[in-house]
Amino acid sequence: MKPLEVREDIFWVGAIDWNIRDFHGYATERGTTYNAFLILDEQITLIDTVKKEFADQLLERVSQIVDPKKIDIVISNHTEMDHSGGLPRVMHRIGENKPLYCSQMGAKNLSGHFPEKWNLRPVENGGQLSLGKRTLVFLETRMLHWPDSMFTYDATDKVLFSSDAFGQHYAGLERFDDEIGAAIMPHALKYYANILTPYSALVTKLLEKVAELKLDIQMICPDHGILWRKDLGRIVEAYARWARQKPTNKAVVVYDTMWHSTQSMAEAIVAGLGEAGVDARPMHLRSYNRSEVITEVFEAGAVLVGSPTLNNGLFPTVSDFLTYMKGLKLRNKLAAAFGSYGWSGESVKLIAQELQEMKLEVVDPGLAVKWVPRAEDEAACLALGKKIGQALPEFIGRF
Ligand code: FEO
Repeated sequence: MKPLEVREDIFWVGAIDWNIRDFHGYATERGTTYNAFLILDEQITLIDTVKKEFADQLLERVSQIVDPKKIDIVISNHTEMDHSGGLPRVMHRIGENKPLYCSQMGAKNLSGHFPEKWNLRPVENGGQLSLGKRTLVFLETRMLHWPDSMFTYDATDKVLFSSDAFGQHYAGLERFDDEIGAAIMPHALKYYANILTPYSALVTKLLEKVAELKLDIQMICPDHGILWRKDLGRIVEAYARWARQKPTNKAVVVYDTMWHSTQSMAEAIVAGLGEAGVDARPMHLRSYNRSEVITEVFEAGAVLVGSPTLNNGLFPTVSDFLTYMKGLKLRNKLAAAFGSYGWSGESVKLIAQELQEMKLEVVDPGLAVKWVPRAEDEAACLALGKKIGQALPEFIGRF
């Protein structure tokens, strides 16, 4: 694939990873891209690299424009390995002593990741770098989503190189938002829900800060997926909305099951939620990847988690999911636990504790059923679903 000129003298030289399906535990059903950009100016500049395995593809794309040795400057907006893994190969090819600009934390991370002694040039928030015709401005975006993360703003072309922010795990031939339209938004939502949710307060602050700075931004170039050049408002407004984590009239019943008892409970709870007018669905943790479940839970106003008791504890997939959800710091949800057991029956209590620790509003002590649900147990599940469904409109109204 050829490099693509995305703006005059700015080229996409990244890589498309069509085959990746598991990105550190996140299901990438449509693959992803690692975007990197070459700016032709008096100082030829490369912004970010790609995953290690794709470094030769990046260099080959650069070679179609200019001899890689002519690159004068490299900028690393983010040091996670999907963007820095290609650095050793790239620096070796272009010259190990070329200046490598990054944030202060980025310099620490690069030294931690790689033994090479590169010519690191840590920059301050607001620092500027003239490339000749262009001036670049560095904006620290600490913890969005790593301590080192930063944006690079090309003040001349009005282009924001936004690192992971506004990205999507999507591999396709489309390079721009206007080539794919609204179909990209589920991928952007999944990315936000699974990567950026814990930093939502910082997202809100960053959007306010950018508005305050009155930066004229005509194109946003994230490090994954399509670039935003036509409808920037679509993704910026979505980020502002997602960062608020406003609950909706939707519920997800997440569970695993051994002999279908917890499954029967889940389905009866979903029926109860449905009777209360809630858009509800059950999600079996061995039918959906944790990242797919989180994407659904993210926008929901209620989450119910169910597990059978196994060896005095939780079923392993449920532990995995709760650990993942806790780390993502999802907020503003009604919650409840349920599950079946044979003799000891710890699962419901353990789930309820976890939900409390996540600061979700646990509205019920939890529903435990011994062995196989009878008609009265199914009625109790239906009632639990209805109770939560009926509480949901008032709860949503609070946000
Ligand atoms: Fe795409 Fe945080 O790396």
